[in-house]
Amino acid sequence: MAIQWFPGHMNVTKKAIIERIKDIDVVIELLDARLPGSSANPMLAQLTGHRPKLKVLNKQDLADPERTAAWLAHYNAQSETQAIGLDASETSPAQRLIKACRELAPHRGGMVKPLRVLICGIPNVGKSTLLNTLVGKKAAKTGDEAGITRIEQRINLADDVYLFDTPGMLWPKITVEKSGYHLAASGAVGRNAYDEEEVALELLASLKGPYPHLLATRYKLDDVAAIPALHDEVLLTEIGRKRGAVMSGGRVNLTKAAEIVLNDFRSAILGRITLETPEEFMRWWAAGEALEAERQKKKLLRSAKGKARQALLDDTAED
Ligand code: G4P
Repeated sequence: MAIQWFPGHMNVTKKAIIERIKDIDVVIELLDARLPGSSANPMLAQLTGHRPKLKVLNKQDLADPERTAAWLAHYNAQSETQAIGLDASETSPAQRLIKACRELAPHRGGMVKPLRVLICGIPNVGKSTLLNTLVGKKAAKTGDEAGITRIEQRINLADDVYLFDTPGMLWPKITVEKSGYHLAASGAVGRNAYDEEEVALELLASLKGPYPHLLATRYKLDDVAAIPALHDEVLLTEIGRKRGAVMSGGRVNLTKAAEIVLNDFRSAILGRITLETPEEFMRWWAAGEALEAERQKKKLLRSAKGKARQALLDDTAED
């Protein structure tokens, strides 16, 4: 079963973004560097239209640096788009954000035409942490440097650069099955929406190919070369056994083993990991879109058949 998660309230957010976007020059989209494709909200692209985008791959301290570089190159190759990596250890991210935004909207700036930036991101991507860092900086600052003040939902990054927080919550929209599992593994999806064992198995399926050495090291698995070909359940069972998640009678407690794997991934005890590459994600996306188109076609067909049947019934009743 795929992750089913419909937290609602999206319409409120959608309306609020549509209202706000009219006066926005650059959109910052915060992404989770461990799952950049899956942590993006496709609705945002529709809502923000042609506006230049700054993709911030946040939590890069948890992600695989090589894959982060690949994602940055992927986004930087897109028109009107820049991408940077970031994490909470960077105590003064404002200057890098300001520089990128100015480059994306060179026609804006100065007191008459201040640069207006909207920041968006799905829950748990680290937006509050970043905003707090940006706001907190003011307290540490003295003298004539550009202040960073938070007025309602607006932060002044510089005298002529305003950062607006997204009104409402931008939840992830899960259209790609794999994305649902990656979001759940990262902790972005509510705990009640998924089965830990299922998510851990999918996580292992994503890890065993690119990161067998990390699994072998953490769980003291002997044969690294054999890991990519192992069945996910066999792998989870072996991990449970090695970590002492064993019930009376010697059976492995798979629920406990799943918790261990998820915690180790979330806390980066396993190592720095990125669950998807741009190429993989684009493949999943295309497959997801094709499936959705098929679903819509069937729905239309069903509804047309239903209408025809009803018309027939109506005709018969009239006779
Ligand atoms: P949100 O507003 O987008 O929902 O996210 P928030 O800032 O609350 O961050 C969600 C979790 O991610 C927090 O951990 C936070 O500490 C962590 N986090 C944010 N930015 C980074 C980063 O760059 N690197 C790493 N490694 N972690 C980051 P938490 O466990 O939910 O809470 P806390 O107890 O750590 O505060």
